[in-house]
Amino acid sequence: MPLLEDHIAVVTGAASGIGRAIAAGYAREGAQVALVDVNAKAAEEAAQEIREAGGRAASFALDVTKREDCIAIAKRVAAQLGPVSILVNNAGINRRNPFTAEPTSVFKDWDDIIAINLNGTFNVTHAFLDALRATKGRIVNIGSIQSFMHVRTPNSPAYTTSKHGVLGFTRALAAELGKYGVRVNAIGPGLIETPLNAQVRANDPDLIKIFMDHTPLGRAGKPEDIVGPAIFLASDLSSYVTGSIVMADGGYRTI
Ligand SMILES: NC(=O)c1ccc[n+]([C@@H]2O[C@H](COP(=O)([O-])OP(=O)(O)OC[C@H]3O[C@@H](n4cnc5c(N)ncnc54)[C@H](O)[C@@H]3O)[C@@H](O)[C@H]2O)c1
Repeated sequence: MPLLEDHIAVVTGAASGIGRAIAAGYAREGAQVALVDVNAKAAEEAAQEIREAGGRAASFALDVTKREDCIAIAKRVAAQLGPVSILVNNAGINRRNPFTAEPTSVFKDWDDIIAINLNGTFNVTHAFLDALRATKGRIVNIGSIQSFMHVRTPNSPAYTTSKHGVLGFTRALAAELGKYGVRVNAIGPGLIETPLNAQVRANDPDLIKIFMDHTPLGRAGKPEDIVGPAIFLASDLSSYVTGSIVMADGGYRTI
């Protein structure tokens, strides 16, 4: 019996990497999936791939930083697919630029990363709040190892701040929305091989060494490694889990 039958799931940043894998995994478990991304063409390709594999999926173009557009998409998804019961806030960016770098770039990185990773999570969640309350839904936010610590190397303080914020937001909403039967959790991926970090993986062996020195499982993760935790947190398998973060990081924080 599929674990997400009768669910309608929204996945942001679903055109690529982790979000794309989660969308496909949810469809395999019987959910109808709305793939939301600023990259409309790639989101439609991902939705098409799901449909060709026998799943149910539709794509929607959205920049999560635009609050009014988030509200409009929530209305369109409700009209086109029905009441949303699962929301995955996955859209995110990173730029590995230290605080001491040239100020114009540091200012831009701060504004963009906070706007997408943190404010975007807020905007989309608020837009789908009524639907999630009506369905006693589940929210899954994508945090990071950097929800707890800063990973050394040239790295953006904005990214660490945004992912700490995502975990704080997860806990705050879990506390407030529990009485409506809405569960709110996060996933903390380690280094996962996606386009987000393709350049550093190709050009920065020191960074990869830092990750691998902290990874008992001895390998980088694949997007598929995040799918199991995402299904768990969206399904009734996690019926008494809220305000938690499931780390899928190869054991990074043990060493
Ligand atoms: N890859 C990793 O190692 C890793 C580790 C920890 C956490 N994460 C987090 O996982 C999430 C997914 O990352 P990924 O590695 O799959 O990256 P990715 O670059 O492969 O995918 C990110 C997706 O988000 C979309 N996106 C970017 N800005 C957007 C916006 N304003 N509105 C809507 N969509 C937007 C992109 O178009 C892209 O499709 C991010 O939140 C990231 O911070 C990734």
